[in-house]
Amino acid sequence: MRTDTSPAIYRKDYTPPSYWVRTVEMGFDLDPSATRVATRMTLARNPASAEQAIVLHGEELELVQIRLNGKNLAKRDYKLVDGLLRIPTKAEEITLEIETLIRPDKNTSLMGLYVSNGNFFTQCEAEGFRKITYFPDRPDVMAQYTVMLRGDKKKYPVLLSNGNLIEQGDLGDGRHYALWEDPFKKPSYLFALVAGQLVCQEQTEKLKSGREALLQVWVEEGNLDKTQHAMDSLVNSIHWDEERYGLELDLDRFMIVAVGDFNMGAMENKGLNIFNTKFVLANPRIATDTDYANIEAVVGHEYFHNWTGNRVTCRDWFQLSLKEGLTVFRDQEFSADMIGTDSGRAVKRIDDVRVLRQAQFPEDAGPMAHPVRPDSFVEISNFYTVTIYEKGAEVVRMYQTLLGRDGFCKGMDLYFERHDGRAVECDDFRAAMMDANGRDLTQFERWYSQAGTPRVKVTTSYDADKQTYDITLAQSCPPTPGQAKKQPFHIPVAIGLLDGKGRDMPLSLKGHSDQPTTLVLELTATQQTFHFTNVTEQPVPSLLRNFSAPVVLDYDYSDADLAFLMAHDSDAFNRWEAGQRLATRRLLALTEAAQQADSPLSVDVALSASLRASLNDVALDPAFRETVLTLPAETVIAEQMEVIDPQAIHTARRFLRLSLAKDLRQDFSRVYAANQTDGPYSPDAASSGKRALKNLALSYLAELDDADAHTLAQAQYDSANNMTDRMAALAALANSQAPGRAAALAKFYSDFEQEPLVIDKWFSLQAMARTTDVAAVQTLMKHPAFSIKNPNRARSLIFSFCNGNPSRFHAADGSGYAFWAEQVIALDAINPQVAARLARSLDRWRKYAPALQEKMRAALQQVADTAKLSKDTREVVGKSLA
Ligand code: ARG
Ligand code: ZN
Repeated sequence: MRTDTSPAIYRKDYTPPSYWVRTVEMGFDLDPSATRVATRMTLARNPASAEQAIVLHGEELELVQIRLNGKNLAKRDYKLVDGLLRIPTKAEEITLEIETLIRPDKNTSLMGLYVSNGNFFTQCEAEGFRKITYFPDRPDVMAQYTVMLRGDKKKYPVLLSNGNLIEQGDLGDGRHYALWEDPFKKPSYLFALVAGQLVCQEQTEKLKSGREALLQVWVEEGNLDKTQHAMDSLVNSIHWDEERYGLELDLDRFMIVAVGDFNMGAMENKGLNIFNTKFVLANPRIATDTDYANIEAVVGHEYFHNWTGNRVTCRDWFQLSLKEGLTVFRDQEFSADMIGTDSGRAVKRIDDVRVLRQAQFPEDAGPMAHPVRPDSFVEISNFYTVTIYEKGAEVVRMYQTLLGRDGFCKGMDLYFERHDGRAVECDDFRAAMMDANGRDLTQFERWYSQAGTPRVKVTTSYDADKQTYDITLAQSCPPTPGQAKKQPFHIPVAIGLLDGKGRDMPLSLKGHSDQPTTLVLELTATQQTFHFTNVTEQPVPSLLRNFSAPVVLDYDYSDADLAFLMAHDSDAFNRWEAGQRLATRRLLALTEAAQQADSPLSVDVALSASLRASLNDVALDPAFRETVLTLPAETVIAEQMEVIDPQAIHTARRFLRLSLAKDLRQDFSRVYAANQTDGPYSPDAASSGKRALKNLALSYLAELDDADAHTLAQAQYDSANNMTDRMAALAALANSQAPGRAAALAKFYSDFEQEPLVIDKWFSLQAMARTTDVAAVQTLMKHPAFSIKNPNRARSLIFSFCNGNPSRFHAADGSGYAFWAEQVIALDAINPQVAARLARSLDRWRKYAPALQEKMRAALQQVADTAKLSKDTREVVGKSLA
């Protein structure tokens, strides 16, 4: 084992900065191979700090000169070690001028200032600003920025930065300039600049107060036909935040810029959001319904950060979920409101819970498990996780469940009243929620400090004579790294009781006089019993309605109970949930059978009858029916097993899909025909729901892999007028023996060669196809359109295979793991953040059979033994092996 590991940073070690920065003036002379950055900042000593020095961060910078209060500093006047520049001083007020030289064209990490397709972009969150200049690059240092950009007029006709454009003009030498001023103080991670050949769609929009704001979506020239949906989403976001939270856009200009090389989804830089093209560009030809929905959600997310993140930001990076959990919650609610119907809201909730179960639950049970507010990290980029984001959003949602919508809004108001313009902690948010509502939420803090997914075990008993019903809730939480024992959480458990006809019973519980049909039980002890009276018959309990807490709920339902809930529960989420429980039960049994060579897999009539009823129930929205008919993912089944057997899970799930296809063939055909959308394409919820259901029917029928299915898929492929239908048909063909398979894949490629986002889909679809093994992926990597340097492309092929094709990735010969190690190492030399993400694919290695475990461990070890490894990747593989 290597020992040169970077030290962990601890939350408990937080100290305030020695100096505050008041103003920052920056001048950029843009040049891909040598950009000169001149920074002048004014600083003021922070009396709360004992440190007698200015402390600045810097990475990969060529330091040209430093001047303190106008005087050039010599080497002996400061210390520069390990990315920290210390200038000893006690002065109260200081002017510091620093000049650095950077090489954006050599920056493949895509952090700091980099070049993508000839244009300049920045990404500063979390610690990228230090790759531009020396600076106290920490979120609690908030300053006012003025930015002068200078560059070649022809190569960089567009020069953008945060805030307002103050002045622009010609420099006479073929260059021009633009001067930008951001009226709001901000931490360095929100700094941004963009320069290059870009065009925009723009419009003005009237705000709640009557002010007008200029909205722009900037893209490369050929993409102006793909900006309308992002613009619509921005307009909707602006008005939603005004209506729901009374929060108005505080700038006169708001810009979104799309870039093809980007590490994450998007970034909320003040007034200048920078987006992965994937979350901006859409038209019916290139984007699926899911793409449209994702764009709306991400545009909303980044816009909502303007208040939850920018106006009120994080004191330190341990508080990351303060802005991310809250902002994900806000974008989830926005998306739900945009659909508008109750059923649509339920489908959105189901989608969000699926992400949580597929990605966050495994994270919370693995070697990288961490609390929503972590206590330590080596590399903060590794903590932009589903726990910080999605579990963080669940934690925020629980406040709303406990306090009600109005109570939650009151808490938000108080949060802004107290903290606007400041950098604060998760505890400050909780305090605002408590104080605004006069509620004690002290114990609720454990959702921030304890990792792991709590389990709630439920037992019930009915007394027919006394007409009472007892619900006993008992909680526990498995150990996680560094946290052996857990204290009880404060868990809101929303419940209802169904009578024999499937109707909600009025609930009589001490302390609730109004007899509601859904009650939020508050579980705070290890075990509590809730005593219901006037229960006139034995009920079927509907537990954890709308998934009121991010827990695993354990209750011994009979198959009949689940079928009953599927058919009757007034809580749409739990109707879906009942079906998932039933299917999971069958899939686990089938998996076990698949492991035994001599035990044949058998069909289950009861499950198929329940699914048939939902499939054909035209009173239910198509979008909802699609979620019911979609079986739990292989990774979700895997998490339910003591020892994961990817091949057996795959066999079981395919078997169940095929038997359902045989059993419900007529039904699927009918549903397929009944859910055609004609007329011009529209991504609205009703149309996309129909397409989802129709394409689900197609995918089941494709399991039959017969001539009828081939013809159906081919016909849909040939006549599709939108990418949703085209992709669904191509997926059906790609996973079949259809004679047109190869031709369709080839045609798709040549039709969309000029559309990088579509070529990503082409790679991804093949990476996840059933026949694709490592050798096939390696062949695809040799395709001229493949490039490991572009994160979207690397994700579309390598990540899709490692994370989205479990049965092939976990091939018994270990070829998948050897491939993984090779790619992690290759990526690490290019882009540590992307590499470290891929490194997470072996997180759960200890859950597999010993033979696979050994091969996974060897692959992890191979990466760990690599001489030059980033601290990003080293932290992930180190924690996996620990
Ligand atoms: N704050 C951004 C968002 O969630 C994510 C930026 C993360 N960037 C990174 N390099 N880790 O909207
Ligand atoms: Zn965010």
